[in-house]
Amino acid sequence: MAGDLQSWVLMATARSPTNIAVIKYWGKRDEELILPVNDSVSVTLDPDHLSATTTVAVSPSFEQDRMWLNGKEISLSGGRFQNCLREIRRRARAVEDEKKGIRIQEEDWEKLHVHIASFNNFPTAAGLASSAAGFACLVFTLAKLMNVNEDYGELSSIARQGSGSACRSIYGGFVKWAMGNNANGSDSIAIQLAYETHWSDLVIVIAVVSSKQKETSSTTGMRESVETSKLLEYRAKTVVPTRVSEMEEAIRSRDFASFARLTCADSNQFHAVCLDTSPPIFYMNDTSHRIINLVERWNRSEGTPQVAYTFDAGPNAVLIAQNRKAATLLLQRLLFYFPPQDNDLTSYVLGDKSILNEAGLQSLEDVEALPPPPENKDKVPHKKFSGDVSYFICTRIGSGPKLLTDENQALISPVSGLPK
Ligand code: DP6
Repeated sequence: MAGDLQSWVLMATARSPTNIAVIKYWGKRDEELILPVNDSVSVTLDPDHLSATTTVAVSPSFEQDRMWLNGKEISLSGGRFQNCLREIRRRARAVEDEKKGIRIQEEDWEKLHVHIASFNNFPTAAGLASSAAGFACLVFTLAKLMNVNEDYGELSSIARQGSGSACRSIYGGFVKWAMGNNANGSDSIAIQLAYETHWSDLVIVIAVVSSKQKETSSTTGMRESVETSKLLEYRAKTVVPTRVSEMEEAIRSRDFASFARLTCADSNQFHAVCLDTSPPIFYMNDTSHRIINLVERWNRSEGTPQVAYTFDAGPNAVLIAQNRKAATLLLQRLLFYFPPQDNDLTSYVLGDKSILNEAGLQSLEDVEALPPPPENKDKVPHKKFSGDVSYFICTRIGSGPKLLTDENQALISPVSGLPK
């Protein structure tokens, strides 16, 4: 190791997206290695709206590995963090920074400690797959700092050991996590099915649903499903393999009707598996069910799907509209039934606000003036559910992890080696 031993700090910063599964991962065949019982398929969400940013710093003056999440120090003692750190360190290679006069040999990495600071640009408590973005970003940033030379498939299999769904956040666009067959998990990796530009018409609206209930974590929930649900066994062996090939074809040919049918069916089956678990797990609530009804009724009235819905281990709805026109009509419907309670419109609809303008919604008065959706004309008077949705996020399909080279974006101070 060269350079002024006690003084230097070397850092890397990267940003990674979150993702939403359209064919769900639910159930592990190996808990330690995080190997799934079936393949899954996801879309990566635009990191401008939903992502984790992570800085990893290394210095001979650091006495132990430490991590801060959203400004608060958290423990790194968990097996999942340790597995990711170990796997990256094992692959670390020599690094030379001529400008700073730093040279780290391959064997030095074992002795050096890291400081990690990570930040989500969306509320962690909202239940929006923060662990997927977080572990993908941790692995990607560590790999960049430590000059790891592995391909993205290999990085995805390391991110997988942090959180299963994180392996799919290593790529942008459309992604498949192949369950693999090997006992050591070497072939349980994510692959990119298509770039984010492949199907850029799609628009995503997320309804963050208010909920006071503390949900069962995915990890615990899927363990209980594996132990008790016969439906999960049937789903993994019989349903998902066909569905994954059909989904790949729907994505390849940009066939929205098939994409929507498969996405909705798979979300519903995943929640049916949760109900089939003993004791049953309820992730969706009345608001989630109302949103499903709204979409189903509208899709049926159009004769062809306009929007697909999918729900993870919580009540939030992720709605994928086939184009901007459908997204504006969707937003009008959502705001008709779920108008803001106290917030103004700009803090109620976050992300890409241009869809609000296209929907002709500039003010609360515009929302109040919205007519009831025509397909629901038999349902007079129309009930409103103000307060049941905390906020909406309008977004799109986005790109994979990226290194941020501007030092101002680093979350750790190069002088103190601590979070800024
Ligand atoms: C419902 O990846 O959070 O979102 O591997 O135990 O960390 P662990 O679970 P996690 O589970 C995600 C489950 C899901 C479906 C999906 O993302 O495919």
